[in-house]
Amino acid sequence: MNLLHTPTQPAWLTQALSHLDLILLDHAQCEKKAAGTAMRYLFQYPNHQILVEALTTLAREELQHFQMVNRHLDRRGVVWKTLKPAPYGNYLKQAIRTQEPDRLLDSMLISCLIEARSHERLELLAKHCPDQELQDFYAFLGIAEERHKHLYLDLAYEYYAAAQVEQRLHELSQKESDILQTLYPEPRVHS
Ligand SMILES: [Fe+2]
Ligand SMILES: [Fe+2]
Repeated sequence: MNLLHTPTQPAWLTQALSHLDLILLDHAQCEKKAAGTAMRYLFQYPNHQILVEALTTLAREELQHFQMVNRHLDRRGVVWKTLKPAPYGNYLKQAIRTQEPDRLLDSMLISCLIEARSHERLELLAKHCPDQELQDFYAFLGIAEERHKHLYLDLAYEYYAAAQVEQRLHELSQKESDILQTLYPEPRVHS
């Protein structure tokens, strides 16, 4: 199932492949943020049992991904530095409506779309990256991020009517593609 409105443009792959270490540094941040996002739901929706169960597992898994990316950084001798994030995340956050129950629906769909885009891009890197160990790693992670995309979508269907989920997903997916139409000049996973 493809949830993305528009596929990644070839310019992103060219940019990423010529700055693999920067992509890896940004990727470490993304995995840490993914764990933090999953944790945030646990604090905000402690009574949503199904959500808490699923996202507790997810938070652990994303932290493991963070650790794995760090080990690749270490293997490649990349010195840690904090990168300014691309506007992607903040732009998507702005689309989240502030009142419940809309807020949770939008949050889960945005999380789902971010996982879907990560899945798509990690698969591209798995196919084209010149570092064999990274290729294998990206292929492994791509499968995980695809599963995470479904996890957030299934949660949305758990708590909201199907028609409501589908309509909002369509709107947000268009937005998600819009921001990626202009390539961010700095190489990022979501540039
Ligand atoms: Fe991950
Ligand atoms: Fe993920």
